[in-house]
Amino acid sequence: MKGIVLAGGSGTRLHPVTRAVSKQLLPVYDKPMIYYPISVLMLTGVREILIISTPNDLPAFQRLLGDGSELGVEFSYAEQAAPNGLAEAFIIGADHVGDDTAALVLGDNIFHGQQFSTMLTDEAHRLDQEKGCVLFGYPVRDPERYGVGEADETGRLISIEEKPANPRSNRAITGLYFYDNDVLDIARRLNPSARGELEITDVNRAYVERGDARLIDLGRGFAWLDTGTHESLIEASQYVQVLEHRQGVRFACLEEIALVHRWIAPEQAYELGKQQGKSGYGLYVMDVATRIQLEGTNV
Ligand code: DAU
Repeated sequence: MKGIVLAGGSGTRLHPVTRAVSKQLLPVYDKPMIYYPISVLMLTGVREILIISTPNDLPAFQRLLGDGSELGVEFSYAEQAAPNGLAEAFIIGADHVGDDTAALVLGDNIFHGQQFSTMLTDEAHRLDQEKGCVLFGYPVRDPERYGVGEADETGRLISIEEKPANPRSNRAITGLYFYDNDVLDIARRLNPSARGELEITDVNRAYVERGDARLIDLGRGFAWLDTGTHESLIEASQYVQVLEHRQGVRFACLEEIALVHRWIAPEQAYELGKQQGKSGYGLYVMDVATRIQLEGTNV
């Protein structure tokens, strides 16, 4: 499976904060926002990740993330000239996906929940055997702000609408999407919507019509955090801060995920932590690397 993080757009709802800085580079407590969606792909086991952003912002993402080799992954970069819609990711990213399955995650979506990585890897493996797409639904009190899906009792999606005035369910479709390779063709054939965008909901509707769109319920006990407004952004930071402090672990620590997957050695991770050793994040990476190294030598 190949990964794409879509991190463009104009971030106008967060002006003036995002006039000079990309929204997806803003901090969510102790790390840049884009770490969270990248961590989702890495937890899925995806190592080839394309980052798409605006021509203006792309160099800043490259400065932050480099080529990924330090983390045992491959980051590549592509420009989206204008915010022409989420589905354009599959036109820009067609060569990157090649003949593989694909995962798209929006650069401003934050997920947190137990057993998430098991769920992700199970679904990614399922798509290796079966055709279709997998969407992740989350109950919200304001579904009219999102893509909204309706599923039958087996989890098969039977309808999907973008920001409906009268939602048929309270299941928002989150910004994480797994597809078989047909997504490239489906995206290529799309027409722009009334608002002039290539809509991801139209891609998903094509799978609903084929009958092979599945909806996984993230449900209670899971957090899908909004970062669209100043209030929700600070709430997301507070959520991460409270849980990290209470539990003594960090979410979306890319070095830790790479280490746990054995994509990098503990010594490498330790070095990466040391380079950032003046921050709590860097110290945490050093601690985790030391612990895993000791466990390794005890085996
Ligand atoms: O967050 C989940 C929702 O994301 C889904 O429920 C909706 O079905 C989906 O359409 C999308 O809705 P939004 O209203 O959040 O889409 P928005 O236009 O705000 O774009 C989402 C993010 O993607 C945002 O950070 C900007 C970025 N983006 C957006 C467009 C249209 C791009 O990078 N390129 C684009 O062309």
